[in-house]
Amino acid sequence: MKPISYGRQSITDEDIQSVVDTLKSDYLTQGPKVAEFEREFARAIGAEYAVAVSNGTAALHLCAMALGVDSQTNVIVTPLTFAASANCIKYCGGNVHFCDIDSENYLMDLNKLRKMLEDAPMGFYKGVIPVDFAGYPIHCQELRKIADEYGLWIIEDACHAPGAYFVDSDGKKQFSGNGVFADLTCFSFHPVKHIATGEGGMITTNNPELFKKVSLYRTHGITKDVELMSQNPGGWYYEMQELGYNYRLSDIQAALGLSQLMKLDQSLIRRNEIAARYNSAFAGIDAIKTPKVADGIYHAYHLYVIQVEDRLGLYNYLRENKIYAQVHYIPVHLLPYYKSLGSIEGDCPVVENYYQHCLSLPMFPTLTDEEQQYVIEKVLEFVK
Ligand SMILES: Cc1ncc(COP(=O)(O)O)c(C=O)c1O
Repeated sequence: MKPISYGRQSITDEDIQSVVDTLKSDYLTQGPKVAEFEREFARAIGAEYAVAVSNGTAALHLCAMALGVDSQTNVIVTPLTFAASANCIKYCGGNVHFCDIDSENYLMDLNKLRKMLEDAPMGFYKGVIPVDFAGYPIHCQELRKIADEYGLWIIEDACHAPGAYFVDSDGKKQFSGNGVFADLTCFSFHPVKHIATGEGGMITTNNPELFKKVSLYRTHGITKDVELMSQNPGGWYYEMQELGYNYRLSDIQAALGLSQLMKLDQSLIRRNEIAARYNSAFAGIDAIKTPKVADGIYHAYHLYVIQVEDRLGLYNYLRENKIYAQVHYIPVHLLPYYKSLGSIEGDCPVVENYYQHCLSLPMFPTLTDEEQQYVIEKVLEFVK
């Protein structure tokens, strides 16, 4: 058995051909493939606008900029995420406050969120960043209701969840990032994610003003749109109107992303099959806590996380057997940088307890049945 990682990209001959075709075309940097990728991604998710960027972190940063985060801005973030979900606020000089997770679905606990909002002066918090952790879509309709009561914007970090949805109170499927509830949503195309472009990311929104802002900030704050410029002395002219960045995706990457996007639905089906097989293999084993999924949720299963008593023991045992499981995540408020800003152990007890026990087992579409069986056997061997 060759080594098995917790996640990996699936690159087909079609994907390679798509990249080769673009390499032979006139555009390598942002060009027609990026525009096509944005169009197709927006269509797939059901959003009005999509803006492709160089990675998921850049997507988050641009969203924070577009919402005007500055040193006076207090934002609530889930601690169960990759550091980037909180860092985007720090890039803009804002202040991060952590809201603990729900012990069943591992998402930001909306009751605790409400409590934090009730306990603060009205207007203290300006925004909230939930994460669709592991591919489980947050109930953004419920979150929107709370956000509207307290005047918060929402940046949904759906880096784990393209194609995930929840069924709303009218029985409608609401896909993560469709722009109905969140102001802005971010995706990542890092190779372990559903769609791989090497590095890459996307922002979706239904808000035309925010769309214009993130588009401007993506490319230095420069516009060539004659409608927006203060003068137009000739075709060569452009205007830098704000301080932005070079956070563009290349056409080479977009070609890969487009080809990968075509396989998203299939890959979600496969990920759900793998999860179902783990669930049934571990059913009735008290020593293993498997993920719980509520009715009306379509889980994107970026990760399949179990909890066990002796996590370090299982992690090491699997490694000895060439299975490279992983821990997602060290709670962000316990990272030394955030501790230096005042977070302490005990701030978020649910996620701290989760962190002692969690382990992400191999989960990717090309994981074979034989490989998965081997993983299941090794896990069971250890816990029994
Ligand atoms: C939840 C979450 N947010 C943000 C990011 C950042 O994305 P990227 O690595 O594309 O910058 C990641 C990816 O690692 C992530 O898992």
